[in-house]
Amino acid sequence: MSAAHDRHAAPHAVPVIAIDGPTASGKGTIAQRVASRLGFHYLDSGALYRLTAFAALRAGVMLEDPAGVAAVAAALPVAFPDGRIELAGKDVGDAIRTEPISQGASIVAAHPAVRDALLGRQRAFRRPPGLVCDGRDMGSVVFPDAVLKVFLTASAETRAQRRYKQLIEKGLPANLPAILQELRMRDARDSGRAVAPLQAGAPEAVLDSEGLTIETVVGTVLDRYGSAVRDQASGRSAGAAGSTLQG
Ligand code: CDP
Repeated sequence: MSAAHDRHAAPHAVPVIAIDGPTASGKGTIAQRVASRLGFHYLDSGALYRLTAFAALRAGVMLEDPAGVAAVAAALPVAFPDGRIELAGKDVGDAIRTEPISQGASIVAAHPAVRDALLGRQRAFRRPPGLVCDGRDMGSVVFPDAVLKVFLTASAETRAQRRYKQLIEKGLPANLPAILQELRMRDARDSGRAVAPLQAGAPEAVLDSEGLTIETVVGTVLDRYGSAVRDQASGRSAGAAGSTLQG
């Protein structure tokens, strides 16, 4: 079933801020801070694709097998207690952040059946007073009626530097040229796929974080949200950002 058949024709009572963008653009950090400033819930949609790849590999299911991986996705025994990520009761927060799982997530994410299997789980995160979510298709497919859609980006070199710094800070091995190459591979796969490709949507959704501090980016998202809410209240189209995604 196409996710384009969205049931939310009237404005939804629970506001969603959708933050999409390529790998290492800072989506997770920004989305979590915006959520905490507004007292909203937070959804890391990428974690679901990572968990699916991780669970499939564990179960001996080939990542290139759409039906097999979709079955794994549909039955994922996942829980998010206090922001931790648990699979069958075990904390896998670090285990799903390795490079092989990042590439694996991007492989399983290209299967339409897998995306369909994860759709309901993602929408279930929409609870009062609001939701901030990050991923690749939050504004285009999962929450097309999001009150604010942001496409957070930065150059590949800057994003590779950020990922490199993150790994070094965690005491993990890191090689900058390899990170840059892997990041470009994942960008290409995520943007080039037929289903829910990574795309900026409307030009006004773009937020280029090149050279900006985290606080500046958070402030910009909060400002845009404030304007979007005012626009919605005054009856203007608040979903201007990303509205072209609806075709
Ligand atoms: O943190 P990073 O941006 O590197 O990755 P992530 O958000 O955890 O997503 C991992 C992979 O899952 C991505 O490379 C995408 O292929 C896929 N994904 C997706 O297809 N749709 C989403 N809404 C989120 C992630």
